[in-house]
Amino acid sequence: GQPIDVNLEAVEPGQAITVTWRGKPYFVRRLTEDEIASASELGEGDMKEFAPIETRLGGEEVKDWVIVSANCTHLGCVPKVIDTKPEGWNCPCHGSVFDMTGRILRGPAATNLPLPPYVFTSATNLVIG
Ligand code: FES
Repeated sequence: GQPIDVNLEAVEPGQAITVTWRGKPYFVRRLTEDEIASASELGEGDMKEFAPIETRLGGEEVKDWVIVSANCTHLGCVPKVIDTKPEGWNCPCHGSVFDMTGRILRGPAATNLPLPPYVFTSATNLVIG
C-alpha cells in the first residue's frame, strides 16, 4: 500500500473523518480543548490498556489530532463517534467504549485502537503510511 495524503483544512475541532489506507478505515479526529482535557484526566485505573495521552496524539504542534484504526479491537466493527466525554467511541456490535484518543475504557475489547504510521507534513496535511 502506498501512503495517502489527507487534507485537514476542512476538519474543525470536534469533527472526525474516516479515510481508507491499505483497504482499511481509519479515523482522523480533531479534538476540542475540552476533549483533550477530559482525556488527560483519565488514569491507569480508568482503562484496560494504559497508554499515556501524549502517545495517542499527533505531536507537539498538532496535539489536537487523533489518528487511529476504525476497526474495533474486539471483532472489527466500526465504532461510532460519540462525544460524551471522556467517552469518544462506542462500538455498536458488543458495546466496547473507547476514550477520545481511542484507549479502551470498557467492554469486550482488550486493547486500544492502534495508530497507523503517519506524519504531518504541515499543520493541514497528514500522510498515513
Ligand atoms: Fe466492537 Fe465487539 S466488535 S465490541
